[in-house]
Amino acid sequence: MLAGKNILLCVTGSIAAYKSAILVRLLVKQGANVKVIMTQAAQQFISPLTLSTLSKNPVLTQYADEKGNWNSHVELGLWAHVILVAPSSANTLAKMANGICDNLLTATYLSARCPVAVSPAMDLDMYQHPTTLNNLAKLRSYGNLVVPARFGELASGLVGEGRMAEPEEIIAFLEEEVFAPEQETLKGKTVLITAGPTMEPIDPVRYISNHSTGKMGFALAQQFLRFGAKVTLIKGPTTAQPTFNGNLNVIEVSTASEMFDAVTREFEGKDITVMAAAVADYTPAEVSGKKIKKDGHVLELQLVKTRDILAEIGRIKKTGQILVGFALETNDEEKHALEKLKKKNLDIIVLNSLRDSGAGFGHDTNQVTLLDNKGGKKQFELKNKTAVALDIVKAITEQL
Ligand code: CTP
Repeated sequence: MLAGKNILLCVTGSIAAYKSAILVRLLVKQGANVKVIMTQAAQQFISPLTLSTLSKNPVLTQYADEKGNWNSHVELGLWAHVILVAPSSANTLAKMANGICDNLLTATYLSARCPVAVSPAMDLDMYQHPTTLNNLAKLRSYGNLVVPARFGELASGLVGEGRMAEPEEIIAFLEEEVFAPEQETLKGKTVLITAGPTMEPIDPVRYISNHSTGKMGFALAQQFLRFGAKVTLIKGPTTAQPTFNGNLNVIEVSTASEMFDAVTREFEGKDITVMAAAVADYTPAEVSGKKIKKDGHVLELQLVKTRDILAEIGRIKKTGQILVGFALETNDEEKHALEKLKKKNLDIIVLNSLRDSGAGFGHDTNQVTLLDNKGGKKQFELKNKTAVALDIVKAITEQL
């Protein structure tokens, strides 16, 4: 299962670093491509030469090597199918949980879009300390995976929880938690996602739009790709231009009308459609061919309703096609979301409330409730949008 996978192993300062040699050996034996990043502290426990020999790749320790060649953290992050931090010291866990970016490892972690797994290794009291527990909970809330530490004798001589999992256990964890779902669940499925705002022109220089950044739709596309689906992403104009690993077709549109045409054209035959775009509900009745001059105190702009894309595809959807919409509400949230679910003939509606801080437009986080057409309800805590996307993809997979 690991053959051909790009695994970025990050080794930090813990006595368990000696097990990294066995881990690299086993990964290479399975046919994985392994690159290793080591922190300064890790090099006091095991030599880079050992890991470069076993991985057949130079070990990376700095932003640039001694010849001045840059080790691009961005490229490393994009190369990796998984980042595995093993052993993960309390110090590195804390940095990752809090966005501290002071070495090649943490910079790569922040740049990466692939799954991340950490395998903690530390003394029992450090492992049980509230700050470590909080940091692990934060990492989980970002969608990162934690290989639980094991019970046993520790380097201090004390006995308790804190030993790094054995290399064989870590490999089994990668196979089950990272790569197995990707191979099975959505292979052969076709997915249509919309993301970002639309831009409704008023004249050649002005437009009406909204604060959507597209982040939620991009995170969904990334997760669907991870599970092996073939994704078509229809996106409105966004500042962020993400790059994706996998089978993705991107269609750029600008106005609600262009998005309507693209979605209705692409919808046929798609197994799953998720409308995450913030489509303008109204558009100027007429677009001035020339820049509108300012004369007079008041400028009246007549707006006409755009066509509801989601309602239209809900009307034409066939049995077996799954349709998911979003609802951003400020009051009577659940009631309004359920009305939209029914009115637009959806299978699932993703509700975010503007009353929850950290949810909705612009944030990297979101807090959602999923309501489905069988009366099901799943409420989630505030999470990074990658983790929210994973929850949504899992709920959709259950419906298939
Ligand atoms: N949507 C759409 N086409 C539109 C407007 C919205 O496809 N012209 C989709 C959005 O992508 C979202 C869902 O409909 O998935 C809900 O959008 P929202 O604007 O919240 O709902 P409306 O039905 O427009 O109701 P209201 O604006 O009155 O809350």
